Amino acid sequence: MVQTVTTDNGSSNKFDRIVNDLAETGLSICDDFLPPLLVSSMAQEIRELWQLGEFRHAGVGKGTSLQLRPDIRNDRIHWLDTENPSSVQRPYLLELETLRNYINRSLFMGLFEFEGHFTLYPQGAFYGVHYDRFISSLERVVTCILYLNHGWQPEDGGALNIHSGAKPCILPLPMQVLPQGGRLVTFISDRFPHEVLPANRDRLSLTGWFRVRP
Ligand code: OGA
Ligand code: MN
Repeated sequence: MVQTVTTDNGSSNKFDRIVNDLAETGLSICDDFLPPLLVSSMAQEIRELWQLGEFRHAGVGKGTSLQLRPDIRNDRIHWLDTENPSSVQRPYLLELETLRNYINRSLFMGLFEFEGHFTLYPQGAFYGVHYDRFISSLERVVTCILYLNHGWQPEDGGALNIHSGAKPCILPLPMQVLPQGGRLVTFISDRFPHEVLPANRDRLSLTGWFRVRP
């Protein structure tokens, strides 16, 4: 029999920590999920796509009920083609694949695929309180937000404000999370109402969802 030697001295890896957090509280905040170089390459790609006019106003609702509602959200988005990711997106999508498998193995959620978009909130933009899982998008089960901002300061605003939902949670809520580069926020999509507060500078991220089969 082949013995595998592990150097694990009781400290768990980032995927284990996220899965444990999700199981315990439904919410996980993981700093330095990606190395800074990759974070800046993704931010750079957003800037290039923006220059090329590849961003659209984000809407509210889905399919035929999709509406532009600048009173609710005025961020701009660029959907990823996850089948054909750019060389800059690929390493992150591979990490998410690993995370998806960890979650499925431990929490039996049957997560099937990831969908996501680059997001740019121009200075002053916001997204009012909402849930990520609504009647028309029951497939979205776990939200993953990766922030791509270098050196974000509290006075830059733009916090993700997470409120408590119907289900009791041991975390002190509401909780404000700054969109610090490399930080990954993961949460159970139907558990927490949340909002993006207006920022004093452009705010970049990659937002997405692990989905189950419809
Ligand atoms: C969203 C969202 C939060 C954030 O796009 O649905 O809630 O911090 N984003 O960017
Ligand atoms: Mn949301």
